[in-house]
Amino acid sequence: MNAPAMESTIEGLLVRGKGILAADESSPTIAKRFADIKIASTEESRRSYREMLFTTCGLDECISGVILFDETLRQKTTNGALMPKWLAKQGMLPGIKVDKGAVALANFAGEKITQGLDGLRERLKEYGELGARFTKWRAVIAIDEHIPTHTSIEANAEALAMFAALSQEAGLVPIVEPEVLMDGDHSIGRCEEVTTGALNSVFAALFKHRVVLEQMLLKTGMVLSGKDCSQQADLPEVAEATIRCLLRSVPAAVPGIVFLSGGQSDEAATQRLNAVCSVTDVPWKLSFSFGRALQAPALKIWKGSQDNVAGAQSALHHRAKCNGLAVEGKYSEQMESEKT
Ligand code: 13P
Repeated sequence: MNAPAMESTIEGLLVRGKGILAADESSPTIAKRFADIKIASTEESRRSYREMLFTTCGLDECISGVILFDETLRQKTTNGALMPKWLAKQGMLPGIKVDKGAVALANFAGEKITQGLDGLRERLKEYGELGARFTKWRAVIAIDEHIPTHTSIEANAEALAMFAALSQEAGLVPIVEPEVLMDGDHSIGRCEEVTTGALNSVFAALFKHRVVLEQMLLKTGMVLSGKDCSQQADLPEVAEATIRCLLRSVPAAVPGIVFLSGGQSDEAATQRLNAVCSVTDVPWKLSFSFGRALQAPALKIWKGSQDNVAGAQSALHHRAKCNGLAVEGKYSEQMESEKT
């Protein structure tokens, strides 16, 4: 019954040369980002920041959808338009982060479980009425000597699958996101091993919960060396390990895989996206769903002042354009000096 609506949402999100803007930072996370630029996080400063992002002229040329936080879905632009309605009018599909964040997993030091399933069916109904077309749930998997454990991988996979089933029941396309963190000094090989294991558990749980693979998207990290690893894998190694891992774990029935940026610098994220998306012989569409790697330069310029809006929007447009080209394998470093 909901299948045609979800298929049209997926088609809209996976338009070639476009990706997703993740602007769904929870209130504590956006407060940290604002603290870096010495801005107080208030309902109005958050609204005004998101309005700056979403009113960027031509953003829809490279952005197909935007993930919002609960608060933003209910906020209005200065002209009185509800944010999701405004985005839809600009040709960008509105989505919503529906998890309630990751908390410590009892008895498993250093590991987390994402919460938010209680009352989710009712919230999804409301989100659909407010205009959301897709949803996101993020699980967090940290790497250290003795983690992740089988228990935390399985618990998170189960929650992701229950979220995805509920989301499809509501006619909203689920973006299933098991994020393997890049914190630590582990090798790229260890990241590949953990990511492959996590994705295999997630797809086993999705199967058990009868989630329709054709009506969901996977959001995952690229396979990378840990941030503090002395030997950083180069672009061909990242592309090779990432694609090998995905081919071993993600069924071909999944229509698309979108990458998170996960704390990489914005230019590094774009270069790696370009390298991974240059591998064309894969069964899924590949694209991006970046938060920090799209927003960071704009946030730094904006600093909460109306005078900086045009400069900040131009920085956001530039990053979106570079990442849009990277999806087609057409990005080169030289584009960084060509401002839009
Ligand atoms: P980053 O690209 O900043 O990792 O954020 C993407 C996201 O939505 C994480 O859930």
